[in-house]
Amino acid sequence: MDLSSLPGPVPDRLLEPRELLELARGVGEQEDAWQECLGGCAQERSYASYFLNEYVGVWIIEWREDAHDTGYHDHDRSCGGVHVARGAIRHEKLRLGQRPVGTRVDAGDGFCFDRTAIHRMRREPGAGPTVTVHAYSPPLEHTGQYGQHEDGLLHRVPTSSEQSLQPTGHQGTPTGRVGDAAADRDTLP
Ligand SMILES: [Fe+2]
Repeated sequence: MDLSSLPGPVPDRLLEPRELLELARGVGEQEDAWQECLGGCAQERSYASYFLNEYVGVWIIEWREDAHDTGYHDHDRSCGGVHVARGAIRHEKLRLGQRPVGTRVDAGDGFCFDRTAIHRMRREPGAGPTVTVHAYSPPLEHTGQYGQHEDGLLHRVPTSSEQSLQPTGHQGTPTGRVGDAAADRDTLP
């Protein structure tokens, strides 16, 4: 099987967030392709490059444990779209002086973001095996990881996209705990 096959034409320009979400959804529906892709990964790795050209990069990520957590990060110059192909993830967006906005995203749903977005993803506790498809334009080269360091302040740590994201520094109060449903709802305008 050609793992670089896409559901539509090969992108020949930079894509907008909505287009990236559609692309990620299309790839996510090609279950045979990403299932085989993940099967080829080494045990310790949880992500695989699915497609890459100068305009778009697509990654398949497998969330094997509830503890799998990206921590808060940005995507430098890239926009993105994420489709949940299996299981569920918790998607959190950082706010200053307030709890993060947290939502559960189940299989069949997704979201997109522009280059200004700062967010965090982790497997929804108890969701079981989870797979997500991520499309970025331009292809992701750098990220910035956010966390509170020992000096008590928020810092951004530049990171290559080659490195697997994980929490860097204290990540604040998580969403998704029992009884927190009302506070977790996405109440942004
Ligand atoms: Fe991200």
